Amino acid sequence: MESEVLLSVRDLRIAFDGVEAVRGLSFDVRPREVLAIVGESGAGKSLTARALLGMMPRGATTTGDIRLLGDPDLVPRRGRRIALVPQDALSALSPVHPVGDQLAAAVRSVAGVSRKEARARAVAALDRVGIPDAVRKARAYPHEFSGGMRQRAVIAMATINEPDVLVADEPTTALDEERRDQVLRVLGEQREAVGAALVLVTHDLDVVRQHADRALVMYAGRLTELGPTDQVLARPLAPYTAGLLASLPEHAHGRRLPTLPGTPPAPGALPPGCAFAPRCPLAADACHEAEPEPRPADERLVACHRWEEVPDPAVELFQVRQPA
Ligand SMILES: Nc1ncnc2c1ncn2[C@@H]1O[C@H](COP(=O)(O)OP(=O)(O)O)[C@@H](O)[C@H]1O
Ligand SMILES: [Mg+2]
Repeated sequence: MESEVLLSVRDLRIAFDGVEAVRGLSFDVRPREVLAIVGESGAGKSLTARALLGMMPRGATTTGDIRLLGDPDLVPRRGRRIALVPQDALSALSPVHPVGDQLAAAVRSVAGVSRKEARARAVAALDRVGIPDAVRKARAYPHEFSGGMRQRAVIAMATINEPDVLVADEPTTALDEERRDQVLRVLGEQREAVGAALVLVTHDLDVVRQHADRALVMYAGRLTELGPTDQVLARPLAPYTAGLLASLPEHAHGRRLPTLPGTPPAPGALPPGCAFAPRCPLAADACHEAEPEPRPADERLVACHRWEEVPDPAVELFQVRQPA
């Protein structure tokens, strides 16, 4: 159904010096959903997030089709309908302007509103994210805010123009657990308040479990598995997803920690066939010959020649045996 798709990405390819780091990625973001993008470092998560925002690094060649509500022209160069939730609140705010002025400027950059109205919206936005005494705080500078308050202020900034899509790339990686939960809670509340979808890049499967409706697992610049979070985490169909899960301490069951052996290949040094095959306990001849395409499996997409052989529980694939 057309209305089920808010943002569509088709055959996204991002290359540096002719070497592709994102290799033909296609997915949809649905209205108001939280879509997590997960995978090890180097999978192409950040490049994908930046492509949604039109913020490509120097030297990148990007092809593919990104549409918001079916329209490629709605995908802006810098986020308005698609807005970034920055990872580093301090560097996301200018040190030389009061926080309220920065929020008001963001309002005025999009909407034709008066200064007074923009200021009122800035104060309201600070109030909404739970900053006490918002009228006074709007006149304060970022260094006068606590770390937690700054985090709230940048969430206010990201949501003040009521974007359709929020993009957050590892928004909590630098934070301790308590602060992490707080930031994700405030972000979730604001996302719901403005009715935005959220594309949440993370390597933290606990964050995925707690916050994402669907999970997109990436490996070596491609889609490995995409589906409802509860299904993907409870019963992964791709061996790579199982490997990520097996790396979680909860699957050790008091034994040695099961792990995903090896490291992902660099974009310029991909093995033949499936990029995961050299690390995959299920790899067969076919896996070393042709790269699997994402194919539907129930409510999911899975790119694996051998997904029907994946056991349940899938983490058993990676269980390390105790030395005798
Ligand atoms: N600015 C860049 N110049 C050259 N190569 C890059 C650049 N940014 C990313 N890459 C390549 O793309 C790969 C994926 O990058 P990235 O999307 O940042 O991965 P992730 O966020 O999943 O860790 C990197 O491992 C690197 O090989
Ligand atoms: Mg990254």
